[in-house]
Amino acid sequence: LATPEKVLRTQMPSYTCQRRTPLNHHNSTLTDALEILARAAFFQSSEVRYLGFTRAVSTLKSLPFKLQSAEEAKDLPWCGGHCKTVIQEILEGGVCREVETIKSNEQYQAMQLLTGIYGVGVRTAERWYQEGIRNLNDLKNTESKLTVEQRTGLQYYKDLQQPVTREEAERVEQLVKDALLRFSPDVQITMTGGFRRGKLEGHDVDFLITHTNESALTGLLENAINWLKSKGLILYYHMKKRKHTSHAVSSLMDGHETYYTICALPSSSSQNTDLEVKPHNFVAAEQMACLKSQISKGWRAVRVDLVVTPHAEYPYALLGWTGSKHFERELRRFSLHEKKMSLNSHGLYDTEKRCYLPAHSEEEIFKHLGLTYISPSDRNA
Ligand code: CTP
Ligand code: MN
Ligand code: MN
Ligand code: MN
Repeated sequence: LATPEKVLRTQMPSYTCQRRTPLNHHNSTLTDALEILARAAFFQSSEVRYLGFTRAVSTLKSLPFKLQSAEEAKDLPWCGGHCKTVIQEILEGGVCREVETIKSNEQYQAMQLLTGIYGVGVRTAERWYQEGIRNLNDLKNTESKLTVEQRTGLQYYKDLQQPVTREEAERVEQLVKDALLRFSPDVQITMTGGFRRGKLEGHDVDFLITHTNESALTGLLENAINWLKSKGLILYYHMKKRKHTSHAVSSLMDGHETYYTICALPSSSSQNTDLEVKPHNFVAAEQMACLKSQISKGWRAVRVDLVVTPHAEYPYALLGWTGSKHFERELRRFSLHEKKMSLNSHGLYDTEKRCYLPAHSEEEIFKHLGLTYISPSDRNA
């Protein structure tokens, strides 16, 4: 007899973008473990294993109930083989030996720490590890080798490690809006990334900027950034011009820019009193010290990504910058393999009909792809 759970298990679609993945789910013990295996594979630049574990994680996050046995896992996409063994060990004994071994592995710990620095990717961290670097102090003694970005990352390490809260994200939004509206009253600013998916905290704050009149966008972000800089609110930024892409809607906007910044977010007036009133809350000692230092200096460093998009591409940019990263990767894989269409943050190209498909909303993009619409809060794959 097929229980409703069994039906759900056996009918779960294989692509992440074909199903809902809410923020809160029922299998975090399993996904926490598999995410460590995925990260270890990522550190070893083993793309295939990384993707395998990541797909299993995303399947389990979509499952609307708690998995009871490894036997049940065999019905689920991407949960066989190695993943099934991990699932079985955890469901039967509470822990997986392989995962515990990785967690206590010196190289894994160092890679975790070093890749946590802004501007440091896997390859750099790996090289540093081979050179004997294990922690931030080791790095400070070799400062000459660091790029400007990495030095900045090290300088603001503590602040950037501390998750950005939604309240902080909203204050960043206010700053960004103030700066942009100064130069263009009708500009549209949307918070994207994890916060648009309903996350309560994130590692940065992402914004998408557009205007119905394309020419109003020329130089706009640059002006806003310079204004913020003159107020001492920008600690660091680098800009990436958009590469020339042969896309549908607007060749005018080629060379359009993305700014990756670190802002100095002023402390809110209520923050002071919060700490005075409840000094004995459950914040860990180190985090408390970090908070106190921020209050005494009057600001904290926050990463902020700013993207400009022409209005005609806005739905594609919105879809592309809302994430999650895995959801995006799966959308693109689905488009190409199942629909012979090429999707990116600028547009959707039908390789068989040889044309671009314009869209006025995210819903329309899902329609083009023959997919049921998935709302941002269900894209937490
Ligand atoms: N993104 C992108 N190009 C980049 C960086 C990011 O298209 N150079 C996209 C990612 O694919 C993702 C979105 O921007 O869809 C947000 O990325 P990011 O801020 O890294 O992740 P979040 O999901 O916002 O997670 P967090 O809350 O930790 O910031
Ligand atoms: Mn983000
Ligand atoms: Mn980002
Ligand atoms: Mn374009």
